[in-house]
Parts: sequence; structure tokens; C-alpha cells
Amino acid sequence: MVTVEVNGISLHVLSEGQGSPLVFLHGFPLTHAMWDAQRREFRETHHVLIPDLRGFGRSSRPEQIARMEEFADDVHAMLAACDVNEPVTLCGLSMGGYIAMAFARKYPEQLARLVLCDTRSQPDTPEAADNRRQLAEKVLKDGPRIVADSMLPKLFGPRTNEDHPEVVDAVRNLILAGSPRGIAAAQRGMAERPDSTPSLKDIAVPTLVIVGEYDLISPPDEMRAIADAIPGARFEVIQGAGHMSPMERPEAFNAVLRAWLG
Ligand code: MLT
Repeated sequence: MVTVEVNGISLHVLSEGQGSPLVFLHGFPLTHAMWDAQRREFRETHHVLIPDLRGFGRSSRPEQIARMEEFADDVHAMLAACDVNEPVTLCGLSMGGYIAMAFARKYPEQLARLVLCDTRSQPDTPEAADNRRQLAEKVLKDGPRIVADSMLPKLFGPRTNEDHPEVVDAVRNLILAGSPRGIAAAQRGMAERPDSTPSLKDIAVPTLVIVGEYDLISPPDEMRAIADAIPGARFEVIQGAGHMSPMERPEAFNAVLRAWLG
């Protein structure tokens, strides 16, 4: 891991391999570690960069709120700090996908290809946004367990608990080790995130949309609509997986990504 100073904070970034740059953005409230299977596969052929986003892992904690545009600014500044000056392939899961869509709007010249995994283009409903703000207060008071309890039942396909308990344990441990301040700031930022749907038609780079067959948070129908709205986008379903498709079915996920990258 390297540490880079960007936008007034320290970001921890895993940077491995050589070749064209491939950046992975983790979901909420996880760290670079969720992309371990992709790191091991793609560092053979690419320069893989995986940050701990602000507030997560060993990166600095934001004060009150971490907006998707600020995360995108961090990614942009991280690339410059890591001497990556060419356009990158950006792959984001869920919250990482919200950030990738913000990056596509703000920094289209730095984007070569886009991969949106298990994510949503629509904003929260007012009720969902209120729930997030309440959850942020609870996490600050009582710690991350409440987030683990509310998220874990929704994250996996029906067989993952039985077939891959180590994946469920790894995700639980990542959530429990999270910083209450980082979690609360990202929740508040996600509650304010804009509707990315109208700008999907403006994405002008090759795009791959990937979803787990049983994703309950960003269901396949919703993700197919995202792919339909992006000119020329490819849509792939990872059989048997839920919301955490790259961790639940890493071989299938990597094969889809590898075939598309060419
Ligand atoms: C994630 O996996 O990043 C979360 O489900 C995003 C969200 O809470 O909207």
C-alpha cells in the first residue's frame, strides 16, 4: 500500500502490477480488501489501483459528510499523485458505482472504460435518505454493529452463507472494523447523492454493467435499465451471486471482466 496526500487527507492505495490502469472502488462500508480476488487476477496484466476511500480502511476520516463528488475528486487526485496520467478503466461496486458515475460526469477525459457493478443510478427516496441520516446518528452513538445487522441479510445470494461462509465472515469483519465517523459521513453523502440517470446517455466510453442474479439492493431489472440507457453498454449477470458478486463468485466475475477487457 502507498499513502498519498490528496485534497487535505491521506489516502491509502493499493497499487500493483504494470500495464493500463484499472481502478477498483469499493462498496459501503468496506475497504480495498473486498477486491482481493480481482487484485490477484488483474495485477498480472494491468496496473491495479485500489484506494481505501476517505473514511474507510486506513484512509483519513471526513468530518461530517462525504459526498460522491468529493470521493470522485479524491480518485482524480489519487491518479495524479500515483503518476497515472492516461485515461483509466474505472470499476465501482454499489457506492463505488455512485462514485464512478460522478467521476464520469466530472472527469470524462480521464475515463477510458467504465464498469458498474451492483449499483443504482437513482437517488434515494426521501424516506430512504431519512433512514440513512438516522442510521448515521446511531452508528456514531453505538458503533458499526447496527450497520452489519441491517446490511448482512441483504448482501448475498441464497447459497453464499452455506457455500462460502468465509466471504460472509470477511464482509462482517470489514463492517465491524469500520470507523463510525467514516460510515456516518458516507451515509450522509449517499443520502444527498444526485440522480445519475439523466447523465447515463452521455457516457461515451465502453461500459460494462454487471449484477448478481439475486442482488436485492440493485436488482437485475434496474441494472439492465442502466445498461440500456448507456450507449453500447454490455450487460452481464453473475449467476448465483447477490450484491457482493465479485466476492461471492470471483471466478465468474473475473472471467466476465477479463473477456470484456480483451
Ligand atoms: C453498498 O454496497 O455500497 C451499499 O449498498 C450502497 C448503499 O447503501 O446504497
